[in-house]
Amino acid sequence: MKKEDLVHHVATVKGLRRLRDETPDPADRAEEFHEASKFHRATFGRMVHHQRLSVDPDVAAGARLGARTLSHLPQRPLDRDDFEAASRDPRFASLVRAPSCRTFTGEALPPQVLSRLLGLSYGAYPQKAATGRRRRPLPSGGALYPLEIYVVGDVDGSGNKGAYHYNVLDHALEEVQRGLPAEAVRGLGIQQDLLENAALIVIITAVFNRSRFKYGPRGYRFCLMEAGSLIQQLQLVAQALGLGSVAFAGLLDDAVEDLLRIDGVDESFVNAVLVGRTSVDAKLGEGASGAQTT
Ligand SMILES: Cc1cc2nc3c(=O)[nH]c(=O)nc-3n(C[C@H](O)[C@H](O)[C@H](O)COP(=O)(O)O)c2cc1C
Repeated sequence: MKKEDLVHHVATVKGLRRLRDETPDPADRAEEFHEASKFHRATFGRMVHHQRLSVDPDVAAGARLGARTLSHLPQRPLDRDDFEAASRDPRFASLVRAPSCRTFTGEALPPQVLSRLLGLSYGAYPQKAATGRRRRPLPSGGALYPLEIYVVGDVDGSGNKGAYHYNVLDHALEEVQRGLPAEAVRGLGIQQDLLENAALIVIITAVFNRSRFKYGPRGYRFCLMEAGSLIQQLQLVAQALGLGSVAFAGLLDDAVEDLLRIDGVDESFVNAVLVGRTSVDAKLGEGASGAQTT
């Protein structure tokens, strides 16, 4: 990112805080960092550096392996045959994540599937009598659950897409906007055919202060970790429901903020997961290897 873009983003955060007469903690740079990490249509090309793979052999080698070997240290082998056999064992089948899917049929999901996907991924289970606390499918630092879920899709089989907030406490969808034209959905990001054909764009946002009030800048780190955990949970639940999915960072932050009517500072987009029926068996991983990624 160019220096002037960074300065612009930082100014955006500070400007919003000033407008609200709020003074951010100068030792807490999380908001500025988050702002600087956003994809905007104008700056996207400068933020993703595909070309480094072709010009830097070290970068290319590291990207190919995606793992480190500490060859100077003594090595203790683990039982590879057993691990591979376990990955084929039906007891573990629901835990072995299928390859990402990028070939969606465009078909809407029935209400029961939608309800299960959201509930099993991020819902609140019936309260435990002993503690009075709701059980959630994910761990969360301090049980503060700073993440929110929104979905973009046709949730009532009407043929119209809308944007909805998932209300965890009531297990219900709250209508943010209805009747979204296809262009509005495509315009949310890059890989626009994928965005249009997915039954659901599941958008994960963070209400940072729900964790930061207690943990300060580390609370920002918790938000990102918890989003990773939620992505995984959404993908595993989608798979158990016979659906394909792909974690998806390629949304433009400003477009998402406008759509969801969030301010991008107190609550901001973190990542998305695209979910839908796939024209091929998700387990075969069609569309996974060599597919376009951010
Ligand atoms: C944070 C994150 C962001 C991602 N963003 C995109 C994306 O924008 N577009 C895409 O096609 N895949 C995206 N992916 C999917 C990865 O490309 C994919 O998980 C990776 O290539 C491994 O392949 P597999 O999931 O098929 O095993 C993303 C994955 C993660 C974890």
